[in-house]
Amino acid sequence: MSAIRFENVTKEFSNMARSAVDHCTLAVDKGQFVVLLGPSGCGKTTLLKMVNRLYEPSSGTIYLDGVDIRQLNVNKLRRQIGYVIQQTGLFPHMTVAQNIATVPNLLRWPKQQTGQRVDELLALVDLPPAEYRTRYPAQLSGGQQQRVGVARALAGNPEFILMDEPFGAVDAITRTSLQDEMITLQKKLRKTILFVTHDVDEALRLADRIVIMRNGKIVQYDTPLNILNHPADAFVKELMGGGDIVRQLGLIRVEVAMQKLPADFHVDGQPTINCEQDLRHALSILLQPGATALLVLDQQTPVGLLTLDDLRTAARAQSTAALAA
Ligand SMILES: Nc1ncnc2c1ncn2[C@@H]1O[C@H](COP(=O)(O)OP(=O)(O)O)[C@@H](O)[C@H]1O
Ligand SMILES: [Mg+2]
Repeated sequence: MSAIRFENVTKEFSNMARSAVDHCTLAVDKGQFVVLLGPSGCGKTTLLKMVNRLYEPSSGTIYLDGVDIRQLNVNKLRRQIGYVIQQTGLFPHMTVAQNIATVPNLLRWPKQQTGQRVDELLALVDLPPAEYRTRYPAQLSGGQQQRVGVARALAGNPEFILMDEPFGAVDAITRTSLQDEMITLQKKLRKTILFVTHDVDEALRLADRIVIMRNGKIVQYDTPLNILNHPADAFVKELMGGGDIVRQLGLIRVEVAMQKLPADFHVDGQPTINCEQDLRHALSILLQPGATALLVLDQQTPVGLLTLDDLRTAARAQSTAALAA
């Protein structure tokens, strides 16, 4: 059973000639990080807002864990879904701790439990609690505000998280470090995440799978590598940035491209690489003499294998040939 499923979902606005979201069908597995990618106005935000019922579909059905969301109480539904937006939506007159405690307070958690949860979440998003608990949003940088936004979304321990261009308003360096933190966080939490962006690099970095949208329609849904390797049409190819394969490999994590470790695999001094490193780094090791396969490690545990063949299928054949020459 899929964690989130859209079945033939359409959304029309009265002032629009075409549908904002047009007959979208999509299944997201539990624990997957799925990125909705496409140009401005293609319907990403509208699709997302139908999941927590900020918008109701004109037709079609959305299921969470197999349940039609119309059968759920709206408040209860929203408490199961963390929501992070670009303008954070932090309450300016409330401290960081009070902001993060919004959902626990709604759920009437005991004060002590809420306090512990706030500190735990601040630590999780890399803001030392003692220093940040009592600050107000205006006393934080843009990147720190987004971290608090993420912490607040996680407070009630929701199974699902919706993120709408959460890092869109911060500078490029802060954005990259927030993305790295998001990857680390997801490793720990394994939430089911729908993440909206119009930034291709961000999508390649973060996604287990990418949904490419155009004019309200889903044009492709696949892993970052398969999309680069087999773009569904000229639009997707153009969107993904044409043939700059070196740049693209530098954005994709090893764990997305590796093969599962065969059950009978004998670990025997193979060169290793961490699963969170990128494919460009992997390529630089694989091009050294004698390195036929890399053993992929998660922390210290072997989890997969990556060969030059995997990369070759990953990258478009001709570009890799040019690279290796
Ligand atoms: N509340 C609304 N009322 C009318 N039109 C809307 C509303 N929300 C979005 N739209 C329109 O729906 C289309 C898709 O918008 P949106 O989902 O925000 O796109 P994206 O997030 O991909 O930039 C756009 O043409 C937008 O103008
Ligand atoms: Mg949007």
